[in-house]
Amino acid sequence: MSERKYRIATIPGDGIGVDVTAAAVTVLDTVLPGLEWTEFDWSCANYLRTGEMMPADGPELLAGFDAILLGAVGFPGVPDHVSLWGLLIPLRRAFGQYVNLRPVRLLPGTESALRDRTAQDLDILIVRENSEGEYSEIGGKHNPGRDDEFVLQESVFTRVGCERIIRYAFDRARERGGKLCSATKSNGLIHSMPYWDSVFDRIAGEYPDVQTRQMHVDALAAEIVLHPDRLDVIVGSNLFGDILSDLAAAVTGGLGLAPSGNINPAGTAPSMFEAVHGSAPDIAGQGIANPVAQILAGAMLLDQLGEHAAAAAVDRAVCDVLGAGEVLTPDLGGTATTTDLATAIASRAAELVDPVGAESR
Ligand code: NAI
Ligand code: MG
Repeated sequence: MSERKYRIATIPGDGIGVDVTAAAVTVLDTVLPGLEWTEFDWSCANYLRTGEMMPADGPELLAGFDAILLGAVGFPGVPDHVSLWGLLIPLRRAFGQYVNLRPVRLLPGTESALRDRTAQDLDILIVRENSEGEYSEIGGKHNPGRDDEFVLQESVFTRVGCERIIRYAFDRARERGGKLCSATKSNGLIHSMPYWDSVFDRIAGEYPDVQTRQMHVDALAAEIVLHPDRLDVIVGSNLFGDILSDLAAAVTGGLGLAPSGNINPAGTAPSMFEAVHGSAPDIAGQGIANPVAQILAGAMLLDQLGEHAAAAAVDRAVCDVLGAGEVLTPDLGGTATTTDLATAIASRAAELVDPVGAESR
């Protein structure tokens, strides 16, 4: 096991983000001793006190860390565009985290909406563009209050932005099954999507070994449900990747199982890991949130640090505990609390990294 020390920033945020982040920290500490955690109390509660989701120098405060583990931000009382644009989006952009990586797997012991599918049928990696596209600040409200009132919301697709995310996806496809599907909608979005498609076609020429498909995002959504076995890596714009990954998470065991990483592939700034889900106000404060998504986000964090053995131990521990089916949170049909499930995963992970030590404990 590595002796290196790592400085990790946590932003637990709002609602269940706080509980699942604590759970993930417990598990990661079990598999790797050298993690030094620093918590930042940036959240909607903080916004209501100070008028800011995070201080103006937030990105500078985080820049020196090796990685960031984020819970979820957003809570009733603060509009979602305020919380999102006050923290999540500025951090993704400040740190050049232009890849949003979202693995979607059917985990052992979980009941999928696709009940007759097995883990072999559903193992997809969604590569979402994370810095531009449809999520742009360009636009505005015109003629407010008049009958001819209208809003404009522009999309931004740059050559650099399209090329780097598509190339990243081809690299992942080459490492995995050799199949890449691009989400388009060139029949409806007549400027941005034909451009995206043309970049995809051009880069495909550099990867003759990768089998490619381009599907309209609506048909691709149906494909994820009907034929997940035909899909391996999917690349999509910011909006398409966002929607497809919630859908894909829902057809596996639900949002409580889906992790995600905001990756700076060049390593020039920290990457940030989080669950796909949000702060779940409907179950916040009850101690019953499923911590698996955040724990798997922690495993992705360890992978990014180069701690592959520790990451694999976390992953395996999650699969073993879910597969055993004894300690499950209510969303998985059980009665366990967040802490119960995190503790079970941490003890299994401890056995995996140190079988002898675990026996003598
Ligand atoms: P959500 O993901 O928080 O909740 C959707 C549904 O899934 C709820 O019924 C919730 O109880 C359930 N759920 C989610 N995670 C779960 C878990 N770990 N265990 C068990 N059940 C779980 O999405 P929603 O309700 O649309 O958003 C709530 C807030 O979170 C909003 O303010 C939103 O903007 C914010 N949000 C923040 C994100 C982030 O920080 N990256 C991502 C998505 C939403
Ligand atoms: Mg989403």
